[in-house]
Amino acid sequence: MYKLLFSTLIATAFFWSVRHAPEPLAPGDAVADVLLRLGDDPVAHYPDTTIEGVSVEAGRGIMLTGFATGPGGSKNGKQSKHYVCTACHNIEKEDPDLSVSDPQARLEYARENGLPFLQGTALYGAVNRTSFYNGDYEQKYGSLVEPAREDLREAIQLCATECSQGRALEPWEMESVLAYLWTIGLKMDDLILSDEEKTQINQALKGKGDAAAAIQLIKSRYLSGSPATFAAPPEDRKAGYDVDTTDVENGRLVYELSCLHCHENERYSFFRLDDSKLTFQHLAKHFSRYTEYSVYQVGRYGTSPVPGSKPYMPNYTLEKLSHQQMEDLRAYIEHRAGYER
Ligand code: HEC
Ligand code: HEC
Repeated sequence: MYKLLFSTLIATAFFWSVRHAPEPLAPGDAVADVLLRLGDDPVAHYPDTTIEGVSVEAGRGIMLTGFATGPGGSKNGKQSKHYVCTACHNIEKEDPDLSVSDPQARLEYARENGLPFLQGTALYGAVNRTSFYNGDYEQKYGSLVEPAREDLREAIQLCATECSQGRALEPWEMESVLAYLWTIGLKMDDLILSDEEKTQINQALKGKGDAAAAIQLIKSRYLSGSPATFAAPPEDRKAGYDVDTTDVENGRLVYELSCLHCHENERYSFFRLDDSKLTFQHLAKHFSRYTEYSVYQVGRYGTSPVPGSKPYMPNYTLEKLSHQQMEDLRAYIEHRAGYER
């Protein structure tokens, strides 16, 4: 009898200590979980999985194909007839150092990892961000960005209707998209941390260090919002942006990893781009003109959306295409067109 009571006590103590033992950082730990373990406030965009039909699979389907199976096995109607989310957003990590938004580092990372180079910010890590449509996006969408600035659900809804030119997501679709986005949140391994910094975080996790400092340290290694600076075409379009030299090979990367992602075989646009001399000559001729085919024009201003009826081209902010990269692209296009400048 006593023996039984004693072993129950031991077992209870054992399980209590396991449950409450501070766990060290493990490979693959999600950044959001570690922050919670350190006592940070939970974010508001955890999915509501009590809604019928909500699943990671449905969210992934909506984002990659526009389609998903919802409540009671019903099929939804396609989210947008023009676009899927991955036309404009990567769903993998796209920045080698997540604490800066550097388009050249991203272009090289995209080449190394076989990713496209796009106008939208990667949705990998979107759940870790706390502000959306930052900087100059207010100029483009006006008061529509206000509710979306600090609310991921509103940001997704804005993009579904404005960027994708599609319909609003239903509640089960929205929560499914969030459920999927939580599977592509940042991992501790994605952050650049020295061994000492990892030790500091481990100490804090054990309750022996400064938890607030550890939270701050982790958050300093990724951006809580993606910066966005709009730019205009160069004042003198013939002369172009003021850069010292141009790099044709870098321009080829922009063309292939960005422009062709949407324009090859009319994937997302009726305007077809390919590798032929005629295409390059067309682009080269219009580059410095004031026409709808000027890459300066469409690159910096995008094309205007006609709600629901036509795909449009999103503009590139300076964080997504630098002036240098634009000039490299021009040099590549002129080179392939057989132009000398
Ligand atoms: C035609 C291009 C396009 C499509 C399609 C598109 N987006 Fe976007 N999205 C953008 C651009 C451009 C932004 C501007 C802010 C940024 O991403 O840096 C944006 C912003 C966002 C943001 C806020 C990101 C941030 O950190 O500021 C979210 C979230 C988002 N989109 C989700 C989606 C989802 C989900 C879909 C599919 C239903 C989708 N988008 C489809 C272009 C697009
Ligand atoms: C996210 C997809 C996307 C990307 C990336 C993209 N475009 Fe576009 N682009 C479009 C769409 C959509 C249109 C609207 C024209 C249409 O489909 O009717 C367009 C329009 C254009 C036009 C005007 C054509 C017309 O009929 O008025 C040009 C020129 C152009 N793009 C060049 C480029 C170049 C150069 C790049 C690379 C720097 C690029 N695009 C990247 C989607 C994209």
